[in-house]
Amino acid sequence: MINESMQKSINEQINKELFSAYLYLSMAAYFEAQNLPGFAKWMRIQADEEQEHGMKFFEHLLERGGMVKLAAIEAPQTSWKSNQEVFKQVQEHEALVTASINALYELALKEKDYPAQVMLQWFISEQVEEEKNAADIVQQLEMIDAHGTAVLMLDHTLGKRGKE
Ligand SMILES: [Fe+2]
Ligand SMILES: [Fe+2]
Repeated sequence: MINESMQKSINEQINKELFSAYLYLSMAAYFEAQNLPGFAKWMRIQADEEQEHGMKFFEHLLERGGMVKLAAIEAPQTSWKSNQEVFKQVQEHEALVTASINALYELALKEKDYPAQVMLQWFISEQVEEEKNAADIVQQLEMIDAHGTAVLMLDHTLGKRGKE
């Protein structure tokens, strides 16, 4: 059975993943209001993926005889100054999540929790992808004028994101 300190940290991680879903859903709503459906679609898919991450931790706890304890999810921010600011926040938020996953992995090493180490390796690779995606969009937004037609082109591109 999974030990207490791992259970506590995984329960905290479930909350962080579900907060991430909430944050990205809030960003999707913001982009819908800005009439940028492609940006909004990208965020909706991002939110779905975070929900799936939360469920991976949820299932892991249950499979190992742990107790899932869901806590309140903090309300996310609802407005931003610019498109750039939104994606910069995604980048910063993903860096925080990466640090949290890494800390969880260190705990799994310390506790000699081998099944958790295997499960967390998937998240470690996923975070590399998450950080890269956010950084690429931040960089593209920096290259274009906030009111230029290039924003509409990027909206079109982001709208092509499929379920990964
Ligand atoms: Fe995640
Ligand atoms: Fe993420």
